[in-house]
Amino acid sequence: SHGYRPVSRQYPENCVGWYRKRFTVSQDEIGTRFYLKFDGVFRSSMVWVNGVYAGLNESGYSEFGYDITEMLNYGGENLITLRADTSHVEGWFYEGAGIYRHVWLIKTSPIYISHDGGIFVKPVLHDDTAVVDVNVSVVSKFAQDKNYSLKMTLSDGEKAVAYRTIDTFIKGYGENTVSFSMIIKNPLLWSLENPFLYKCTAEIIVDNIVLDRVEINTGIRSILFDAEKGFFLNGKPTKLKGVCCHQDHAGVGSAVPDALNEYRIKLLKEMGVNAYRCSHNPPTPELLDVCDRFGIMVMDENRLLTTGSYGVSQLETLVKRDRNHPCVILWSVGNEEGSVQGNQIGYNIACELKRRIYALDDSRPVCYAGNNGGQYYGTNAAVDVRGWNYMNNGGGIGEMDKYHEAHPNQPLIGSEEASTVGTRGIYKEDAEKGYVSAYGERFPGWGCSPEAWWKNFDEREYLAGSFVWTGFDYRGEPTPYSWPNINSHFGIMDMCGFPKDIYYYYKAWWTDEDVLHIFPHWNLEAADGEIVRVKCFSNCDEIELYVNGESMGKKSMEKNMFVDFEVPYHAGNLKAVGTRNGHEVTTIINTAGEAEKIRLESCTCKDKFHNVTVISVSSEDKDGNFVPCASNLIKFSVSGTEAKIIGVGNGDPSCHEKDICAEGEWERSLFSGLCSVIVQHDSDFVLTAQSDNLISASIEVSAK
Ligand code: GAL
Repeated sequence: SHGYRPVSRQYPENCVGWYRKRFTVSQDEIGTRFYLKFDGVFRSSMVWVNGVYAGLNESGYSEFGYDITEMLNYGGENLITLRADTSHVEGWFYEGAGIYRHVWLIKTSPIYISHDGGIFVKPVLHDDTAVVDVNVSVVSKFAQDKNYSLKMTLSDGEKAVAYRTIDTFIKGYGENTVSFSMIIKNPLLWSLENPFLYKCTAEIIVDNIVLDRVEINTGIRSILFDAEKGFFLNGKPTKLKGVCCHQDHAGVGSAVPDALNEYRIKLLKEMGVNAYRCSHNPPTPELLDVCDRFGIMVMDENRLLTTGSYGVSQLETLVKRDRNHPCVILWSVGNEEGSVQGNQIGYNIACELKRRIYALDDSRPVCYAGNNGGQYYGTNAAVDVRGWNYMNNGGGIGEMDKYHEAHPNQPLIGSEEASTVGTRGIYKEDAEKGYVSAYGERFPGWGCSPEAWWKNFDEREYLAGSFVWTGFDYRGEPTPYSWPNINSHFGIMDMCGFPKDIYYYYKAWWTDEDVLHIFPHWNLEAADGEIVRVKCFSNCDEIELYVNGESMGKKSMEKNMFVDFEVPYHAGNLKAVGTRNGHEVTTIINTAGEAEKIRLESCTCKDKFHNVTVISVSSEDKDGNFVPCASNLIKFSVSGTEAKIIGVGNGDPSCHEKDICAEGEWERSLFSGLCSVIVQHDSDFVLTAQSDNLISASIEVSAK
């Protein structure tokens, strides 16, 4: 009924997966410490090392790890075994299965910086000086007490801007924390336009030998949520133009390569997004690295609203892992826990979780994403910043205004807004196929159209901004349909990252670029002369629309709105001419003829390990026009010494074609004219696309 086949109890045949990994460790490594770290396994994973039980971790999103030093076979082969069990789910969306994030084997000396959030660098900006508080937790597995020095260097990438060495002492098998402060005068700030990062290097030095070294980034910025004036970054009023996202992507599910996460963030940044909510679970850590580098602010969310030790340890793991990231501006203790959010239990739990967070990081406010309208009791009364899931959850914006008036000291954000549904390139409802019109006017009872929420938020200084549900479509939750629909329609972009029309609404009002987007496409199944509706998402002041050169009238644009025209449909072309601040902006869509040839475009991102290239595939007619309704099946092959296709997708919420194909059999049909191929590579490669009745195309891509 959720529109996808969960790997859960109903599907015992595929809910358990086993992994094995063999490796050797030499005799010379006796004395080295080995720590096995998992960034995320979905879920309930048991780990054995050489048959010795290392432990159980239930969460599908939390990082966990085991010190396996004593379990290893030195001078021979070792076997790690992991069993993942997805019989139980954690969310109501597709959650992936198995080992879907990185696994690290970390080797250290017997004295090392704790793996459990052992380094915390907290810069606080006072006028033109940053005071950087440093806390480093050190663990010793030496039997003897040791004198050691802890050296911290802050560098701007070229030179050290501050360093400090603390000479201290640790007991045999002891642990201690070294705390001190450093100063950076006139620091370069981390901002949205220039997210400058300083490198922090912590070293443990014993007898002049560096025995451990950990490097992290930090960013210097100030954040402030003001109940009257909204959010400030570095003292500058900044509306949060955010999106909520789940973690999966077309073709690859939840196992998203780091470079593909960079691709997603890049798409969001281009649209004008400045904030990202990790709904409703800790993200993969590399996503935060990307947000640090791109200048995207993050609302970092915990999975479970509970004070049970299991849940608290997840929250604490999250805070310790992520507190060094300048991008993180808010901790969220949870989302829509309907049974407790509006009562004393919810209040008590949120207070306790807030206290736990402050103990680990007192530099960011705590919020909770509630869908309980104007209620001020429960979780809402406990948090620093009240997250509001949907202004339409009781009363619309008027209810938010009333709440603000009654509680003038509590800053407010929209933790979730919109939930506008639409299928890319579809302009008629089609319940049979599970398609929703992309006009941007359909939404569930709690949701609204893009302009309905953004206009209200933009006009109210006290609202710090909001996060749209969602940036991208995701698997599961195919509201308003169900199986055989398999993914959501909420995205501003589809599963592949192809923009839907509402993308241009946001881009128009969230960036300074000229935007003049007109839709639908001009290959409609409409009779000649039939009246059709043309909508323009644009930031032009005035727009004149033409059908085959004949003016259909001119309309002026109200800020944060759109204009639309009723026009007779005549195949040919649809043209809009807008004026913006005195200059002209033009957009033309031609009626496309038969698809004749394949068109390929590529975008490459690189992570620590590999390049990932996303290739957008479409077709064009003999005049080079994009063919908007093409659905041709395209076959792909890739040549290159170190290149492989890792997934394909087309954004069709009802498509059951394979996302992953056998070697040599990669294919996908176009949906509303587009599909996408994801290639992971270390070398240059050529991708060739072929289809019956279309002229093939090849694209050469070089590795970065
Ligand atoms: C919210 C919920 C999200 C998603 C959304 C769909 O209530 O927090 O996870 O289900 O509704 O509109």
